[in-house]
Amino acid sequence: MSLSERLAKLDGIMRPVLSNFSPKFYIDFYSKGRKEFLDRLVSETPKNIDVSSWSNPIKVWDIKFNNCIFNAAGMFKKGKGYEVVASQGAGAWLCGTTTSQPRMGNAKNGIVHPFVPLPRSGAAINWLGLPNDGHSAIAGTLKKIERIDGCPIGISVSSNPSESGLHALKSLVEGMNNLAKQNIDFIELNESCPNVSNHTHKDHTILDEEMINRLQYIKDNFLKKRERNLPVIVKYSIDTNESLIGSLVNLLIDLEFDGINLGNTSTKYDEIQKYIDKKEFDQYKYFVENFGGGISGRVLKDKSLKLCKTAHDEIKKSKLKNEFHIIRTGGIETHKDLIDSQNAGVTLNQWYTGYFENFSKFGHNVYKSLISNS
Ligand SMILES: Cc1cc2nc3c(=O)[nH]c(=O)nc-3n(C[C@H](O)[C@H](O)[C@H](O)COP(=O)(O)O)c2cc1C
Repeated sequence: MSLSERLAKLDGIMRPVLSNFSPKFYIDFYSKGRKEFLDRLVSETPKNIDVSSWSNPIKVWDIKFNNCIFNAAGMFKKGKGYEVVASQGAGAWLCGTTTSQPRMGNAKNGIVHPFVPLPRSGAAINWLGLPNDGHSAIAGTLKKIERIDGCPIGISVSSNPSESGLHALKSLVEGMNNLAKQNIDFIELNESCPNVSNHTHKDHTILDEEMINRLQYIKDNFLKKRERNLPVIVKYSIDTNESLIGSLVNLLIDLEFDGINLGNTSTKYDEIQKYIDKKEFDQYKYFVENFGGGISGRVLKDKSLKLCKTAHDEIKKSKLKNEFHIIRTGGIETHKDLIDSQNAGVTLNQWYTGYFENFSKFGHNVYKSLISNS
């Protein structure tokens, strides 16, 4: 057993004990522990996982994916971890989110990049605030990756929340152009981070005019100028009003984007509260009251499936000139979730919270056990 596998197992035993301490101690412990664990994970390369015996490769946008699931954005922000997930048999590897300038991310009450796992509820909450080294530093890291067949490379990008207007868009497109010259196969545009100061959570019932203008700018200045096959998908919040999905999908198709990802974390604290296990309620309350943050995990499962079904119903009505795919993120943790996705018209899935829960049980066989249902 590797060190990260042993650590994950130990954590499974320790968590119930640690959760008896104060919420502040527990959150502090896991905010540090999350990063230390990831540093350990990305330094390992599991051997002897024979991906071909259980994985069914698929072609999406003419790119070979080992299978239909890979990590969600935010897991490998520093551009490390390709080798480990490719050896585990992941469908792809998604790096980022990166922005035009490096960002320190959030800190409050002495806690840097606040994060809390709520394993009994199958959930987590984070208030990281998009910490990252910036597009160009990550472009330099991506350049050095040695590719493994069937594990394409994606990069999640966002405009810099500390920039605004045309300036923000120009530096985003500049970053995308720089990244496009590297070793990447697809781009995910993050239109959905709840953890940055200029994000105001609104229950939109009509499409946001500024968002339409941003996407139009990206079409004119990036999509139309692509010189190679480089699909761009757009990721929205899981809190997106269901009545907007139809117009959102049509907008993305009209603008010639290549897919939609539904979605990012939720900030519907009151609505989600009822799904939180009683034993984790104090940590939940402390976190959302002191930091806010985005909720992830099982509590998003039904929402992500519903939004994807709605998107698929809309796509069925349109005459597509190019491939346009639905990517489901939020609450994926079992083989059944993948089947449900497939039945709902989802092509690719991403996971974050469920990945770590499964890793603590199956270690580096995390993809094998999910896909082969063993
Ligand atoms: C610690 C953490 C950091 C995240 N960072 C990002 C990010 O940088 N960009 C992004 O698009 N989503 C980010 N997310 C959201 C995930 O990509 C995903 O959309 C969300 O966790 C729901 O999926 P899940 O239920 O499988 O966790 C982050 C999530 C977590 C838990």
